[in-house]
Amino acid sequence: MKYLILFFTIVIILISCTKKVGKNPELAYSDFAMLDSINAAGFTYYKNDPNTFLPGTNGPHGPYKLRFNKIGFNALTDNGKLPTGISMPNGSLIVKDVYDGNNNIKYYAFMYKRSGSWLWGEIKPNKEVLYSVNRNPFTCINCHSQTGHRDLVTTFYFH
Ligand code: HEC
Repeated sequence: MKYLILFFTIVIILISCTKKVGKNPELAYSDFAMLDSINAAGFTYYKNDPNTFLPGTNGPHGPYKLRFNKIGFNALTDNGKLPTGISMPNGSLIVKDVYDGNNNIKYYAFMYKRSGSWLWGEIKPNKEVLYSVNRNPFTCINCHSQTGHRDLVTTFYFH
């Protein structure tokens, strides 16, 4: 009897947890959900070049490669760049693979366009969150608003 009660309690807890997950669409944009999207297939590297390291000396991030999901890449119609004055469409995901100088990825810095504004975050391949999507991204936005940015993307200006 005791075990039966315990069993049903666990079942009820599990069911209510599942329900919460279903009802909270924000979870689709959690740090770990973003990492899943970052690890997914279907990205194209900036200027179709998966090999060259961009120096990253203009910002705080380090040497990097830049990749775009399909929605984002399709918007780069100005010689591989976003046309000036245009916003990237909702669903665009930009991933900056930041390297440690030894061909290993140190972390991902990413921007995801949702409801007309960017979601910002930084996460390591081992799931360590360096800058959560839930934090106020004002430091990111502040610096990314610099001269030459296109919809807050700065690589288009430097490279
Ligand atoms: C002090 C300035 C500065 C801050 C703060 C900063 N960035 Fe950047 N970021 C840059 C610059 C400059 C580049 C591109 C060139 C480079 O790295 O040299 C860049 C590139 C990127 C890129 C590639 C797309 C692009 O804009 O070129 C992503 C993604 C990115 N940063 C995410 C972030 C996130 C997330 C934060 C906040 C947690 C952040 N950045 C904070 C300066 C900054």
